Amino acid sequence: MKKIIVTGATGQIGSVLTPALRQRYGAENVVAAGHKRKPGGTLLTSGAYITLDVRDRGALDTYVREYNVGTIYHLAALLSASAEKQPQLAWEINMGGLTNVLEVARIYGCAVFHPSSIGAFGPTAPRINTPQESIQRPQTMYGITKVSAELLCDYYFERFGVDTRGVRYPGLISHETSPGGGTTDYAVDIFYAALRQESYTCYLAPGTCLDMMYMPDAVRAAVDLMEADPKRLRFRNAYNITAMSFAPEEIYSAIKKHIPDFIMNYEVDAVRQAVADSWPDRMDDSAARSQWGWQPEYDLASLTADMLARLSAKLSLS
Ligand code: SER
Repeated sequence: MKKIIVTGATGQIGSVLTPALRQRYGAENVVAAGHKRKPGGTLLTSGAYITLDVRDRGALDTYVREYNVGTIYHLAALLSASAEKQPQLAWEINMGGLTNVLEVARIYGCAVFHPSSIGAFGPTAPRINTPQESIQRPQTMYGITKVSAELLCDYYFERFGVDTRGVRYPGLISHETSPGGGTTDYAVDIFYAALRQESYTCYLAPGTCLDMMYMPDAVRAAVDLMEADPKRLRFRNAYNITAMSFAPEEIYSAIKKHIPDFIMNYEVDAVRQAVADSWPDRMDDSAARSQWGWQPEYDLASLTADMLARLSAKLSLS
Protein backbone atom coordinates (compact mmCIF):
# COMPACT_ATOMS: atom_id res chain seq x y z
CA MET A 1 0.00 0.00 0.00
CA LYS A 2 1.05 3.60 -0.58
CA LYS A 3 2.04 5.28 2.65
CA ILE A 4 0.24 7.89 4.73
CA ILE A 5 2.00 10.95 6.10
CA VAL A 6 0.59 12.96 9.01
CA THR A 7 1.86 16.53 9.39
CA GLY A 8 1.42 18.06 12.84
CA ALA A 9 1.66 14.52 14.23
CA THR A 10 2.76 15.79 17.65
CA GLY A 11 -0.18 18.20 17.95
CA GLN A 12 -3.57 17.86 19.60
CA ILE A 13 -5.22 15.84 16.81
CA GLY A 14 -2.09 14.27 15.30
CA SER A 15 -0.93 12.65 18.54
CA VAL A 16 -4.16 10.62 18.61
CA LEU A 17 -4.85 10.26 14.89
CA THR A 18 -1.37 8.90 14.07
CA PRO A 19 -1.59 5.89 16.43
CA ALA A 20 -5.16 5.23 15.22
CA LEU A 21 -3.98 5.21 11.59
CA ARG A 22 -1.04 2.96 12.49
CA GLN A 23 -3.39 0.52 14.13
CA ARG A 24 -5.77 0.55 11.18
CA TYR A 25 -3.35 0.45 8.24
CA GLY A 26 -0.18 -0.97 9.80
CA ALA A 27 2.52 0.96 11.64
CA GLU A 28 4.92 0.58 8.71
CA ASN A 29 2.50 2.49 6.47
CA VAL A 30 2.12 5.67 8.53
CA VAL A 31 4.85 8.32 8.72
CA ALA A 32 4.54 10.84 11.56
CA ALA A 33 5.86 14.32 10.75
CA GLY A 34 6.39 16.73 13.62
CA HIS A 35 8.20 20.02 13.98
CA LYS A 36 8.49 22.02 17.22
CA ARG A 37 6.80 19.83 19.83
CA LYS A 38 8.64 16.78 21.12
CA PRO A 39 7.00 13.53 20.07
CA GLY A 40 5.39 11.90 23.10
CA GLY A 41 4.00 8.43 23.78
CA THR A 42 4.92 5.81 21.23
CA LEU A 43 5.00 8.15 18.23
CA LEU A 44 8.76 7.72 17.81
CA THR A 45 8.96 4.02 18.49
CA SER A 46 5.85 2.68 16.78
CA GLY A 47 6.74 3.77 13.23
CA ALA A 48 8.68 6.22 11.07
CA TYR A 49 9.08 9.73 12.48
CA ILE A 50 10.45 12.71 10.56
CA THR A 51 11.02 16.35 11.43
CA LEU A 52 9.32 18.59 8.89
CA ASP A 53 8.56 22.29 8.67
CA VAL A 54 5.55 22.34 6.35
CA ARG A 55 6.74 25.66 4.92
CA ASP A 56 9.64 23.77 3.34
CA ARG A 57 8.21 22.44 0.08
CA GLY A 58 11.47 20.83 -0.99
CA ALA A 59 11.63 18.70 2.16
CA LEU A 60 7.97 17.74 1.86
CA ASP A 61 8.48 16.76 -1.78
CA THR A 62 11.48 14.60 -0.87
CA TYR A 63 9.65 12.77 1.92
CA VAL A 64 6.56 12.15 -0.20
CA ARG A 65 8.77 10.63 -2.92
CA GLU A 66 11.03 8.70 -0.54
CA TYR A 67 8.17 7.12 1.36
CA ASN A 68 5.90 6.65 -1.68
CA VAL A 69 3.10 8.57 -0.01
CA GLY A 70 -0.49 8.28 -1.27
CA THR A 71 -2.38 10.21 1.43
CA ILE A 72 -1.50 13.31 3.45
CA TYR A 73 -3.34 14.15 6.65
CA HIS A 74 -2.26 17.76 6.90
CA LEU A 75 -2.79 18.88 10.50
CA ALA A 76 0.09 21.30 11.11
CA ALA A 77 -1.35 24.74 11.89
CA LEU A 78 -1.55 27.51 14.48
CA LEU A 79 -4.81 27.66 16.47
CA SER A 80 -6.98 30.74 16.85
CA ALA A 81 -5.55 32.54 19.90
CA SER A 82 -1.94 31.95 18.78
CA ALA A 83 -2.86 33.14 15.29
CA GLU A 84 -4.24 36.40 16.71
CA LYS A 85 -0.93 36.97 18.51
CA GLN A 86 1.14 36.29 15.38
CA PRO A 87 -1.12 36.81 12.35
CA GLN A 88 1.68 36.94 9.77
CA LEU A 89 3.20 33.73 11.07
CA ALA A 90 -0.24 32.10 11.11
CA TRP A 91 -0.69 32.94 7.43
CA GLU A 92 2.76 31.57 6.62
CA ILE A 93 2.22 28.29 8.44
CA ASN A 94 -1.47 27.68 7.81
CA MET A 95 -1.60 28.80 4.19
CA GLY A 96 2.03 28.27 3.17
CA GLY A 97 1.87 24.74 4.57
CA LEU A 98 -1.36 23.91 2.79
CA THR A 99 -0.17 25.35 -0.53
CA ASN A 100 2.89 23.11 -0.33
CA VAL A 101 0.82 20.06 0.57
CA LEU A 102 -1.63 20.63 -2.28
CA GLU A 103 1.14 21.20 -4.82
CA VAL A 104 2.97 18.05 -3.79
CA ALA A 105 -0.35 16.16 -3.80
CA ARG A 106 -1.04 17.41 -7.34
CA ILE A 107 2.38 16.29 -8.57
CA TYR A 108 2.38 12.85 -6.92
CA GLY A 109 -1.36 12.10 -7.00
CA CYS A 110 -1.93 12.09 -3.22
CA ALA A 111 -5.27 12.41 -1.41
CA VAL A 112 -5.39 15.21 1.19
CA PHE A 113 -7.28 15.53 4.48
CA HIS A 114 -7.42 19.08 5.81
CA PRO A 115 -9.14 20.17 9.02
CA SER A 116 -11.18 23.34 8.80
CA SER A 117 -12.98 24.70 11.86
CA ILE A 118 -15.98 26.45 13.36
CA GLY A 119 -13.59 29.40 13.05
CA ALA A 120 -14.21 29.46 9.30
CA PHE A 121 -17.52 31.20 10.08
CA GLY A 122 -17.77 34.78 11.28
CA PRO A 123 -20.27 37.01 13.06
CA THR A 124 -22.53 37.35 10.00
CA ALA A 125 -23.24 33.61 9.68
CA PRO A 126 -26.33 32.22 11.44
CA ARG A 127 -25.19 31.06 14.88
CA ILE A 128 -27.81 28.39 15.46
CA ASN A 129 -27.86 25.49 13.00
CA THR A 130 -25.16 27.20 10.95
CA PRO A 131 -25.75 25.69 7.49
CA GLN A 132 -23.19 23.68 5.56
CA GLU A 133 -23.25 26.43 2.95
CA SER A 134 -23.47 29.84 4.52
CA ILE A 135 -21.84 33.23 4.54
CA GLN A 136 -18.20 32.91 5.70
CA ARG A 137 -16.72 36.25 6.72
CA PRO A 138 -14.50 35.47 9.71
CA GLN A 139 -12.68 38.37 11.35
CA THR A 140 -9.78 36.40 12.83
CA MET A 141 -6.57 35.45 11.04
CA TYR A 142 -7.24 31.82 11.97
CA GLY A 143 -10.67 31.98 10.33
CA ILE A 144 -9.30 33.75 7.27
CA THR A 145 -6.73 30.98 6.79
CA LYS A 146 -9.44 28.34 7.23
CA VAL A 147 -11.81 29.85 4.64
CA SER A 148 -8.93 30.37 2.23
CA ALA A 149 -7.87 26.77 2.82
CA GLU A 150 -11.37 25.51 2.10
CA LEU A 151 -11.49 27.45 -1.17
CA LEU A 152 -8.05 26.21 -2.17
CA CYS A 153 -9.04 22.60 -1.48
CA ASP A 154 -12.11 23.07 -3.69
CA TYR A 155 -9.92 24.60 -6.38
CA TYR A 156 -7.38 21.77 -6.39
CA PHE A 157 -10.20 19.24 -6.61
CA GLU A 158 -12.04 20.99 -9.45
CA ARG A 159 -9.01 22.14 -11.39
CA PHE A 160 -6.48 19.35 -10.86
CA GLY A 161 -8.55 16.42 -9.59
CA VAL A 162 -6.70 16.25 -6.25
CA ASP A 163 -8.81 14.14 -3.85
CA THR A 164 -9.26 16.80 -1.15
CA ARG A 165 -11.51 16.14 1.85
CA GLY A 166 -12.08 18.05 5.07
CA VAL A 167 -14.26 18.73 8.08
CA ARG A 168 -15.04 21.85 10.09
CA TYR A 169 -14.05 20.68 13.56
CA PRO A 170 -15.60 22.19 16.65
CA GLY A 171 -13.58 22.66 19.85
CA LEU A 172 -11.82 19.34 20.50
CA ILE A 173 -11.40 17.81 23.94
CA SER A 174 -8.68 15.25 24.57
CA HIS A 175 -6.75 13.76 27.48
CA GLU A 176 -3.68 13.07 25.32
CA THR A 177 -2.08 16.30 24.14
CA SER A 178 -3.13 19.80 25.09
CA PRO A 179 -4.35 21.96 22.20
CA GLY A 180 -2.28 25.05 22.97
CA GLY A 181 -3.31 28.44 21.68
CA GLY A 182 -6.98 27.80 20.91
CA THR A 183 -10.12 29.61 22.01
CA THR A 184 -11.86 26.40 23.06
CA ASP A 185 -8.92 25.19 25.22
CA TYR A 186 -10.81 26.02 28.43
CA ALA A 187 -12.90 22.88 27.92
CA VAL A 188 -9.69 20.83 28.26
CA ASP A 189 -7.93 22.91 30.96
CA ILE A 190 -10.96 22.71 33.25
CA PHE A 191 -10.51 18.93 33.64
CA TYR A 192 -6.89 19.30 34.78
CA ALA A 193 -7.90 21.88 37.39
CA ALA A 194 -10.78 19.74 38.64
CA LEU A 195 -8.59 16.65 39.04
CA ARG A 196 -5.79 18.58 40.72
CA GLN A 197 -8.36 19.88 43.21
CA GLU A 198 -7.70 23.45 42.11
CA SER A 199 -10.35 26.03 41.27
CA TYR A 200 -10.60 27.00 37.62
CA THR A 201 -10.75 30.54 36.24
CA CYS A 202 -12.55 30.50 32.91
CA TYR A 203 -11.53 33.06 30.30
CA LEU A 204 -14.87 32.84 28.45
CA ALA A 205 -18.05 34.37 29.91
CA PRO A 206 -21.03 32.33 31.07
CA GLY A 207 -23.48 31.70 28.26
CA THR A 208 -20.76 31.39 25.59
CA CYS A 209 -22.10 28.37 23.72
CA LEU A 210 -19.77 26.62 21.28
CA ASP A 211 -19.76 23.36 19.35
CA MET A 212 -17.51 20.73 20.94
CA MET A 213 -16.39 17.15 20.34
CA TYR A 214 -14.45 14.40 22.11
CA MET A 215 -11.24 13.34 20.37
CA PRO A 216 -12.24 9.72 19.59
CA ASP A 217 -15.15 11.09 17.51
CA ALA A 218 -12.87 13.61 15.80
CA VAL A 219 -10.39 10.89 14.82
CA ARG A 220 -13.12 8.59 13.55
CA ALA A 221 -14.55 11.45 11.47
CA ALA A 222 -11.24 11.96 9.67
CA VAL A 223 -10.79 8.26 8.91
CA ASP A 224 -14.42 7.72 7.87
CA LEU A 225 -14.36 10.71 5.55
CA MET A 226 -11.13 9.57 3.88
CA GLU A 227 -12.62 6.10 3.37
CA ALA A 228 -16.00 7.39 2.14
CA ASP A 229 -17.24 6.70 -1.36
CA PRO A 230 -16.08 9.74 -3.38
CA LYS A 231 -19.23 9.63 -5.51
CA ARG A 232 -21.31 10.56 -2.48
CA LEU A 233 -19.21 13.59 -1.46
CA ARG A 234 -20.75 16.84 -2.67
CA PHE A 235 -18.34 19.06 -0.76
CA ARG A 236 -14.58 19.10 -1.17
CA ASN A 237 -13.86 22.14 1.01
CA ALA A 238 -15.03 20.89 4.44
CA TYR A 239 -18.09 19.33 6.12
CA ASN A 240 -19.71 20.77 9.26
CA ILE A 241 -19.48 18.17 12.02
CA THR A 242 -20.49 18.54 15.64
CA ALA A 243 -21.21 16.36 18.65
CA MET A 244 -22.50 18.74 21.34
CA SER A 245 -22.83 22.40 22.15
CA PHE A 246 -22.31 23.84 25.61
CA ALA A 247 -21.37 26.96 27.57
CA PRO A 248 -18.74 27.01 30.37
CA GLU A 249 -21.34 26.67 33.14
CA GLU A 250 -22.68 23.47 31.56
CA ILE A 251 -19.35 21.64 31.45
CA TYR A 252 -18.73 22.93 34.98
CA SER A 253 -21.97 21.31 36.20
CA ALA A 254 -21.16 18.09 34.35
CA ILE A 255 -17.79 17.90 36.15
CA LYS A 256 -19.36 18.89 39.49
CA LYS A 257 -21.56 15.79 39.32
CA HIS A 258 -18.32 13.78 39.73
CA ILE A 259 -16.34 16.29 41.85
CA PRO A 260 -18.90 18.19 43.96
CA ASP A 261 -16.34 20.53 45.61
CA PHE A 262 -14.98 21.84 42.34
CA ILE A 263 -15.14 25.64 41.98
CA MET A 264 -15.08 27.68 38.80
CA ASN A 265 -14.99 31.46 38.47
CA TYR A 266 -14.65 33.79 35.54
CA GLU A 267 -12.07 36.30 34.35
CA VAL A 268 -12.98 37.09 30.77
CA ASP A 269 -10.18 37.50 28.25
CA ALA A 270 -11.43 40.09 25.75
CA VAL A 271 -9.56 38.69 22.74
CA ARG A 272 -10.69 35.10 23.13
CA GLN A 273 -14.22 36.19 24.09
CA ALA A 274 -14.51 38.23 20.89
CA VAL A 275 -13.30 35.24 18.88
CA ALA A 276 -15.80 32.90 20.56
CA ASP A 277 -18.62 35.40 20.10
CA SER A 278 -18.00 35.38 16.36
CA TRP A 279 -18.29 31.57 16.07
CA PRO A 280 -21.38 29.37 15.68
CA ASP A 281 -23.24 28.06 18.74
CA ARG A 282 -24.24 24.91 16.91
CA MET A 283 -23.55 23.90 13.33
CA ASP A 284 -25.92 21.91 11.15
CA ASP A 285 -24.02 18.74 10.23
CA SER A 286 -26.76 17.00 8.25
CA ALA A 287 -24.69 16.99 5.02
CA ALA A 288 -21.94 14.96 6.73
CA ARG A 289 -24.52 12.63 8.24
CA SER A 290 -26.24 11.91 4.94
CA GLN A 291 -23.22 11.88 2.60
CA TRP A 292 -20.74 9.79 4.58
CA GLY A 293 -22.58 8.57 7.65
CA TRP A 294 -21.16 10.97 10.26
CA GLN A 295 -22.53 10.15 13.72
CA PRO A 296 -20.90 11.21 17.01
CA GLU A 297 -20.75 8.75 19.91
CA TYR A 298 -20.01 11.03 22.86
CA ASP A 299 -22.24 13.64 24.49
CA LEU A 300 -21.31 15.94 27.37
CA ALA A 301 -22.09 13.38 30.10
CA SER A 302 -20.18 10.48 28.51
CA LEU A 303 -17.26 12.71 27.51
CA THR A 304 -16.97 14.05 31.06
CA ALA A 305 -16.99 10.60 32.64
CA ASP A 306 -14.39 9.27 30.20
CA MET A 307 -12.13 12.34 30.42
CA LEU A 308 -12.11 12.23 34.22
CA ALA A 309 -11.35 8.52 34.32
CA ARG A 310 -8.55 8.61 31.73
CA LEU A 311 -7.01 11.87 32.83
CA SER A 312 -6.95 10.87 36.49
CA ALA A 313 -5.14 7.64 35.50
CA LYS A 314 -2.67 9.69 33.47
CA LEU A 315 -2.08 12.29 36.20
CA SER A 316 -1.54 9.68 38.89
CA LEU A 317 1.13 8.08 36.69
CA SER A 318 2.97 11.32 35.99
N1 SER B 1 -10.29 24.65 18.69
C1 SER B 1 -9.90 25.65 17.75
C2 SER B 1 -9.48 26.90 18.43
O1 SER B 1 -9.98 27.17 19.50
C3 SER B 1 -11.02 25.96 16.82
O2 SER B 1 -10.94 25.22 15.68
O3 SER B 1 -8.71 27.61 17.90
